[in-house]
Amino acid sequence: MDTATHEQWLADTRKFWDAGSEFEARYRRICSSPDFDATEDAEALEALWAEETERALPQILQGVPLAADWTCVEIGCGIGRLMRMIAPRCKRMIGFDLSERMASWSREYLADVPNAEVRVNDGKSLAGIADASVDFVYSHLAFQHITLFEVVDAYLAEIRRVLKPGGYCRIQNWRDAPKPVAESFKDMIRPLLGRGRYRSSRCWTWSAGREVKFGGVVFHPRQWRRLLREHGLRVVDLQVGVGHDFWMWTTSRKDG
Ligand SMILES: C[S@@+](CC[C@H](N)C(=O)[O-])C[C@H]1O[C@@H](n2cnc3c(N)ncnc32)[C@H](O)[C@@H]1O
Repeated sequence: MDTATHEQWLADTRKFWDAGSEFEARYRRICSSPDFDATEDAEALEALWAEETERALPQILQGVPLAADWTCVEIGCGIGRLMRMIAPRCKRMIGFDLSERMASWSREYLADVPNAEVRVNDGKSLAGIADASVDFVYSHLAFQHITLFEVVDAYLAEIRRVLKPGGYCRIQNWRDAPKPVAESFKDMIRPLLGRGRYRSSRCWTWSAGREVKFGGVVFHPRQWRRLLREHGLRVVDLQVGVGHDFWMWTTSRKDG
């Protein structure tokens, strides 16, 4: 990806995530759904937030033997609600977010969590993390908003770089709707025709009148597996339709 494309994408993306207030960030960006939209009552929103967080945690940790001596990384950590739950169960918890505002709110939110740290990044790298130093990378509600294939691709390379051999990666993103057989066939023969790798350019759009500007690239499960494999990440579990009809949850491990 050329620098100008990345800079434009980063500026547009930051504009969306740099929400005007913490209220907006929490309840209109991080946990946005018709239930959240339906109320402005602080107690009701806090209860929905807690409920959603309780529901997300087992999905993130499913099949992952999180241990007290682990270093964990979250991509797209937002206010840090998931880091807050995971940090007490590991040695070091580092969150990355491209939004300065989200990062500053998360630093307040995590002020009493001594092993948690939040860093602002360029939306595609895990700069500052040493090679082969991380046990677990996870991402929830962030890849589903990444609108450029090249950014997903860059993150997978970074995940492989920072993970220890055998380290775990768990990502939630959108799965493509089932594809017509003819399209799947074309994808299969692309490399034979010298057309290079599959690059997803289709983005998810939400319907029902909801304004979601950042529906991310979608992958057919087979293509997603192939992409992870190309990055040296071995898929050990892939589930579709868990948590949401079009969610895909994948656990992979770095080879070696
Ligand atoms: C819907 S929120 C989810 C936050 C957190 N994962 C959670 O579940 O509470 C998405 C967050 O990902 C961040 N984000 C989106 N795209 C990103 C990217 N390419 N790199 C880093 N952060 C990103 C946004 O700024 C936002 O804080």
